[in-house]
Amino acid sequence: MQKLKELIIEKTEKYVRNELGAEATGHDWFHIERVRNNALHIWQHEKSGDPFIIEMAALLHDISDEKLNKSAEIGEAKPEKFLSTISLMDKDKNHIKQIIQSISFKGGRKTELVTVEAKIVQDADRLDAIGAIGIARAFAYGGKKGQPIYDPNISVREEMSLEEYRNGKSSSIHHFYEKLLKLKELLHTARAKEMAEIRQNMMESFLAQFFQEWNGKV
Ligand code: ADP
Ligand code: NI
Repeated sequence: MQKLKELIIEKTEKYVRNELGAEATGHDWFHIERVRNNALHIWQHEKSGDPFIIEMAALLHDISDEKLNKSAEIGEAKPEKFLSTISLMDKDKNHIKQIIQSISFKGGRKTELVTVEAKIVQDADRLDAIGAIGIARAFAYGGKKGQPIYDPNISVREEMSLEEYRNGKSSSIHHFYEKLLKLKELLHTARAKEMAEIRQNMMESFLAQFFQEWNGKV
């Protein structure tokens, strides 16, 4: 059984590597690998949930993302299609699909997460959006989208639709206030909250320094 699970993980890893390739908006293979590692690390501390489901969902969590697919429909069909090629109980396949569907942030809309596995994978994904890696990803995403580093004439959006979240006028610095600084409060597990501390401090000191330099005070 263990051996079979290892083979399934291996096959999933190959599939995801191949699908994501050199994606440049922050959803590349290395992001997936970090989320998998964060998730398994959290599981080791929490000692709750099925590590196989956690690892599978972490590997597949961005495969449906609209940004990586020609249409939302094509993306949404992918987990189903891939999971139909592996031998696993329907109960497990459905759990994995349900985690993937429920964890995306998408402009602030929240889906109530029911299982500990879903909570752990979402925490792992959110940890990768904050801290030093989160800073790097925000500017990589901004560069790819052609959005400014910062623009003092744009106001911070408190509430936004999915359309505004994706296409509204913003800057990468605004993204910290609209999303990244809020993520710490949304974490579920004790271990992820602990891990978020240093990452939160890193973003706060980065922003403080950024505005010092922006305002010519250094
Ligand atoms: P999610 O998995 O929550 O849907 P996204 O696909 O929205 O994440 O974002 C992927 C990465 O790009 C994250 O690190 C996120 O912080 C960053 N990002 C998303 N939108 C913006 C934006 N408007 N400006 C800067 N960075 C962004
Ligand atoms: Ni992700």
